Amino acid sequence: MSVHRKTQLNLGIAGLGVASTLFVPGVDASAHARIVAAADRRASAREAFTARYGGRAYADIADLCNDPDVDVVWVATPNQFHCAHAICAAEHGKHVICTKPMALNVEQAGAMCDAADRNGVKLLCGQTYSMSPDVQALRRIVRSGDLGKLIAINTWFYTDWLLKPRVNEEIDEALGGGVIFRHAPHLIDTIRLLGGGRVRSVRAAVGRWMRERPCPGNFSVFLEFEDGTPATIVYNGYGYFDTSELTWGIGNRMYSDAERIAVRQALREGRIDNSVAKEGMRFGAAASDASSAGSGATPTHKGTRAGIHWFGLTVASFERGDVRQSPDGIYLYSDAGRTEVPVFGGRGAGTLEVKEMYEAIHENKPIVHDGRWALATLEVGLAIAESARERREVMLSHQCGLNAA
Ligand SMILES: NC(=O)c1ccc[n+]([C@@H]2O[C@H](COP(=O)([O-])OP(=O)(O)OC[C@H]3O[C@@H](n4cnc5c(N)ncnc54)[C@H](O)[C@@H]3O)[C@@H](O)[C@H]2O)c1
Repeated sequence: MSVHRKTQLNLGIAGLGVASTLFVPGVDASAHARIVAAADRRASAREAFTARYGGRAYADIADLCNDPDVDVVWVATPNQFHCAHAICAAEHGKHVICTKPMALNVEQAGAMCDAADRNGVKLLCGQTYSMSPDVQALRRIVRSGDLGKLIAINTWFYTDWLLKPRVNEEIDEALGGGVIFRHAPHLIDTIRLLGGGRVRSVRAAVGRWMRERPCPGNFSVFLEFEDGTPATIVYNGYGYFDTSELTWGIGNRMYSDAERIAVRQALREGRIDNSVAKEGMRFGAAASDASSAGSGATPTHKGTRAGIHWFGLTVASFERGDVRQSPDGIYLYSDAGRTEVPVFGGRGAGTLEVKEMYEAIHENKPIVHDGRWALATLEVGLAIAESARERREVMLSHQCGLNAA
């Protein structure tokens, strides 16, 4: 679809960190939005931004929200600020895209939804893998009913999240640190999207097994949807086995096997300066390989192929078959054997979110990953932590169905 330039959304970025480097290329390539302003408390980020885009770069998020040229603010600051920054944008009449996780707790998430409603602006909680075309294609199979009723969803994701540079707020659970806040939203969103959204209960176990990263690093979860459909998530972020070995090398890993050995050793010996290494991955950094600073390794293995990122191996099972991703789309296993349905387009972080926001604003289409949806995803994540802590099944009360087909 071609979009007249005048109608493009003017996007302001709140937080020029690592997350921004993941969605900026997608927004730049999008016909639906253009980047016009940003805010970050780091002067180096602001300088890098104005060098690239001209425009305005503010030190204070409130000034970005006050910029009359900005239509949409993409909140990509650390988790503990999502609520305040999203509400600030809404109060200034800006539409909001908020990266995952939506917030630290259900109360914050509810306040964000209320602020958007009160101010008549759209709220989209994005940057989760469930928006990718392959997951959308899996969803279409569920809706078609061609293979009968959905009977189970199972996901396995082994990756190297804990080996990457991590600053305090990524480790401290009170600030939204650890893999339940940071990585689980991708998997929960995917499972909820396929299962229709309404999770009834959660039983989980969570592990903290890496001395250098004292935060949740693995979890095993059993979820049951309201209609009785079961789902499981098995996640491990310690960087030994990697599920991309089972998925044609497509995944989300940062380091090759050899690099993992060097980085793990450097972490154990305290040779990695996480602040320096993290800085090297942010917007405008001179070199993205600073992520391995101190280890001697230069990460070359980004775990992607043709721009595709996968968060593990997901299989949806039906009365008469199974579906899962294939190298070029999705595989359908049915009574007729295995067939491949091609799916076009990579994950396209950035492109997908601004397209959905554009269509919501200009065509009044419902937002799939809206505030209430993301609040429900957050509730599942919090229930994983609670269930593990209390060693019991946790019942949910904020779940919702899908806004759109
Ligand atoms: N979906 C994804 O693929 C993905 C990937 C990485 C991170 N994230 C999310 O993005 C968010 C940021 O993570 P990150 O890894 O980019 O962190 P980061 O530290 O690299 O980036 C945060 C940026 O916000 C700035 N900042 C922090 N507080 C600020 C404030 N009060 N005012 C102005 N600027 C401020 C920092 O200077 C920094 O540049 C987190 O919520 C994380 O979960 C999403």
